[in-house]
Amino acid sequence: GLVYLNGEWLAPEEAKVSVFDRGFLFADGIYEVIPVYQGRPFLVEHHLARLHRSLAAINIPDQPEGFWQDLTNQLITRNQVTDGLIYFQVTRGAETKRSHLPQTVLTPTVFANVSPLQLHWDTPAPANVVLYEDIRWLRCDIKSISLLGNIMLKQFAEQRGAIEPLLHRDGSITEGASSNYFAVKDGVLYTAPADHLILPGITRMWVLQLAAQLNLPVREEAFTIRELAQLDELFLTSSSREIQPIAKIDDIIIGNGRCGPLTQKLVEAFHESKR
Ligand code: PDD
Repeated sequence: GLVYLNGEWLAPEEAKVSVFDRGFLFADGIYEVIPVYQGRPFLVEHHLARLHRSLAAINIPDQPEGFWQDLTNQLITRNQVTDGLIYFQVTRGAETKRSHLPQTVLTPTVFANVSPLQLHWDTPAPANVVLYEDIRWLRCDIKSISLLGNIMLKQFAEQRGAIEPLLHRDGSITEGASSNYFAVKDGVLYTAPADHLILPGITRMWVLQLAAQLNLPVREEAFTIRELAQLDELFLTSSSREIQPIAKIDDIIIGNGRCGPLTQKLVEAFHESKR
């Protein structure tokens, strides 16, 4: 499919960025990922609101009113997308003098593409996670392209046969390397509060809304490492995985290792809400 770069629609191999781009030199930029179901972007206003917040947080000028909505629509129509994942990336722009502090207000580099999305309409098989200390920075609420911590942790997890590292800071579970989590204990859903220690996932927000509609009690309180052994259910959420049940944390089997009843209920409600 065609990719978008700074106002042009190009074949992927034609899209080129300066070596002086601050995204390349400093990872000075932000990104956003939006799922497309049946040719429609899912929860797009929420994703674009987060994109605006990320740009504002790192002081990169935003695009004119309607730009992102229009780009979303063009990506879908030009590439005839039915189900896919839209990727947006904005870096501060290119500057030949390498300086941590930008020397002027630059023209941001805007890149967008769509990749295929493997849709699962049945509940995914429960997978394993492994516990790691959250070694990332203290502004995880910004969807930064600077992802070294996430990548290192993801590699550690993969080496131990897990799909995600489950991260903890000061004894509390924060999130995964590219997902949020929900824990179930005695019929109550727990998820870490949307503060600076996690990315406020759009899927997380949607699951919170679905839980409210289903009258499931929810607490936006982080689960602690000490409480993990007593968990009834655990699942991860993200735009690419939707709801992913978890069977094991390290050697701790959650529930009976199968998808729990509340998780199942939310998976069904989620699928229903995509129609
Ligand atoms: N992951 N936490 C982190 C650190 C993430 O990178 C992501 C997104 C999430 C979930 O956010 P959302 O529900 O808005 O996708 C939480 C990328 C986009 C992914 O796995 O697709």
